[in-house]
Order: sequence, then C-alpha cells, then structure tokens
Amino acid sequence: MNIKGPRGTQDILPGNSEQWQYVESTLMELCKRYNYKEIRTPIFEQTELFQRSVGDTTDIVQKEMYTFTDRGDRSLTLRPEGTASVVRSFVQNKVFGQPSQPTKYFYIGPMFRYERPQQGRMRQFYQFGIEALGSADPAIDAEVLALALNSYQELGLKSLKLVINSLGDNESRQQHREALIAHFAPYRTELCQDCQTRLDKNPLRVLDCKKDRDHPAMESAPSVLDYLNDYSRNYFNKVKVYLDTMGIDYVVDKNLVRGLDYYNHTAFEIMSDAEGFGAITTLSGGGRYNGLVEEMGGPETPGIGFAMSIERLLMALEAEGIQLPIDDTLDCYFVAMGDEAKTETVRLAYLLRKNGIQVDKDYLDRKLKAQFKSADRLKAKYVIVLGEQELAENKANVKKMTTGEQIEVSLDELVSYLKKELGGK
Ligand code: HAM
Repeated sequence: MNIKGPRGTQDILPGNSEQWQYVESTLMELCKRYNYKEIRTPIFEQTELFQRSVGDTTDIVQKEMYTFTDRGDRSLTLRPEGTASVVRSFVQNKVFGQPSQPTKYFYIGPMFRYERPQQGRMRQFYQFGIEALGSADPAIDAEVLALALNSYQELGLKSLKLVINSLGDNESRQQHREALIAHFAPYRTELCQDCQTRLDKNPLRVLDCKKDRDHPAMESAPSVLDYLNDYSRNYFNKVKVYLDTMGIDYVVDKNLVRGLDYYNHTAFEIMSDAEGFGAITTLSGGGRYNGLVEEMGGPETPGIGFAMSIERLLMALEAEGIQLPIDDTLDCYFVAMGDEAKTETVRLAYLLRKNGIQVDKDYLDRKLKAQFKSADRLKAKYVIVLGEQELAENKANVKKMTTGEQIEVSLDELVSYLKKELGGK
C-alpha cells in the first residue's frame, strides 16, 4: 500500500500537537476575556452559501472550492472559510431576536481551499476566527482588531504589523466602482481573461488579481479612500481614534481590498515582518460585512470579524524563535519485575489515574534497564519500582528523577504521597 495524505494536508503528530493545544487553549482563554463564545458549524454547507457570500467572482469561489454532489444530488462544499457559516447559522437560528446583542462568536476548525500548496498555504488549514454581529459601533471594530493583535502578542510575537483600510459603505463603493471601470477600461485587452470579466462584474477584484499584479495600471488605480462619503470617512476616523486610544500602532494601506466580496468599511490584515517568515507575510485578515446577514435572509444586521490560520501563527512563532512553555513531562512511570508485580501495577496505575495523576507503564515486557530508559524518554518525574520483595512488604520504591533520591512508600499511601509530591494534585 502506498497511500499518502492528500496534497496540501498534514498530519499533526505528538511532539507538535502539544503546540496546537497550547495555542488553541490560549486563544480560547483570550476569547473569554473579550467575551466571545464558541460556535461550531458544519464542515460542509450548501455550495450556494459561499457563492452568495464570499462572492461569485472571487478566486475562492471560482477556483478553490472543494465542491461535490452528494447521493441526494445536492451540491455541497467543504467550507473555505468560517464567516458565511456563522452568518447562516445566526439567521437560521434567529439569534438576531435574542436580547443579548451584539452576538460575539469565535470558532476554531479546519477550512479547505484548493490552492497551490506552499509554506503557509495548505489545502486543509485550521482557522481561528471571531465574528461580532449586531453592532455598527466603530468601537467594536477596534475591539476585533485588538483581539486579533492580542492573539499573537499573548503568545509572545512581536514582529507584527497591523494594516487597515476602509472600503466604505455601498454608496462610496459604487462611486469607487465607477472610477475603477473608467481607470481600467483603456487597458482592458492587456488584462487577463479573469480580470476582463471582473471589470464588468466586480472591478474591485481586479485589484487583488495575482496575474496582473505588476501591470502599471494597478499602481495608479483609484483608491476607495478617495471616494468615501462623510459617514464612511467619519466611521473610519473613529476606528482610528479608538485604536490610538488603546495605543495600538497601525498603518493605513489604501490598496488593501481583501479577497472576499462581503466586506465594507473597515478592512484589515496583520502581517509578520519577522525575518525569515517566508514569502507569505499575511498572518490574518478580516473586516466589516454589513449587509451579509440580509443577504442570507435575515434582518439588517451589521457584522465584523477576522480569521487567522494556526499554521501561519506557528510559522511566525518559529520565525521569531519563540518556544512555547509546553509541559511534556509525565508524573510517574511504573517499573515492574515479575508477574505478580505486573498485576499489581495494573491496579495501582488505575488507582493513581483515577486520582488525577499521570501514569504510564511498560507494555512490552522490557527488562529492568529498558523500563528505566522508557521512563527517561517519557520524562517521568517519578519512577515507581515494584518487585517481588516490595510486593511482599506492601510497598514500592519511589525514585524522584530530578534528584535521584529514593524512598520506600507503603502502597496504601502511594496516592497521598504522590499527590503531595506533585504539588496539590
Ligand atoms: P481570508 O483572508 O481568506 O479571510 O483568510 C483569513 C486567514 O486564513 C489568512 O490570513 C490566513 O491566515 C488563513 N488562510 C487562508 N487561506 C489559507 C491557506 N490556504 N493556508 C493556510 N492559511 C490560510 C477569511 O477567511 C474571512 N472569513 C475572515 C473574516 C472573518 N472576515 C470577517 N470575519
């Protein structure tokens, strides 16, 4: 058999999974501080959900979705991102009608995009994201940006750059759209086939085309910032004031448009400027999506959120040389000699584990020395040796591995002795 995991996927094995657990629990704890609650939505959805929200003319929908027909002839898609599902769920479960608004969610889970795999770009990747639905207060934009930034800072990252822009409201976007069409029209035939279509359907998408990125008309394209109406300009200014109040540094990039269609007003990305981070420098992205809830059949409800992949976060930790404080030790390891002792360790291991103590033991009939080696490999803090003589005396020899100190402990007192030694377990 020579079956491999699909291209662009990875197995996360022990040795690595501890980092993932540490990162995920840190992020969850952070969400608790900001009062964002977990939502879990299905990994597949009706294809139409993503076509309508992420947008028909985006690369994600046009080129990157894992879409299949199920046995009931329905078109389903493995989710390429989390926002669409959250909004669908918000509408379907009529959460908008509940008294405690805004609704603040976070999620962590796998997303799927058929992209060309490279470092930091996977076909299955894990996103951590948050969504705040039901408030059009620029202070919540600032809160989302702050949480996004804190997610990295909490883990010790420093080389971070917050880039923001405003895409404006519908009116501003419409003005900008017309300016873009006029700007690109003379170069139409020089643009790629996709961009020619985009120019008619959704000219903003031309700005994030990967093929035409270096076309001279890109540089001189009109910025949406120049087309913001008063409401949009004021809104963006307030977001900046709130960021200033928190002492959060940012740069405004008028060319930041994001690759999904549902955005308006605030759009942002966090980049890593750590040396050696790699070609892709974007760690996370997000923005406001007023109108999306209505698009999904709900009442007028503003929304904002962001998402990051854990893969890129771990890359950034590596680039900055940050070691997470992961405890990979084991409380104790049983070394047994003889059949009776072996049976007794089965009983004792069960008893200790029920009392909250981490325990492992030999299962390969190893010799004494090899059992000690296993204990070392597993970074056991205590090795509990049980032979015929110890058994006869109803006691065990407990060796503290950090000091080499050995002590005989009655089997009846083993639990309380270890609990005390291990510090309040
Ligand atoms: P996005 O910019 O498409 O936005 O993705 C957000 C983040 O997901 C990226 O910045 C990156 O960290 C990660 N990511 C995306 N594609 C890949 C990939 N192929 N491999 C590894 N990581 C990847 C969204 O998905 C929006 N739903 C964010 C949002 C939430 N906006 C509002 N609320």
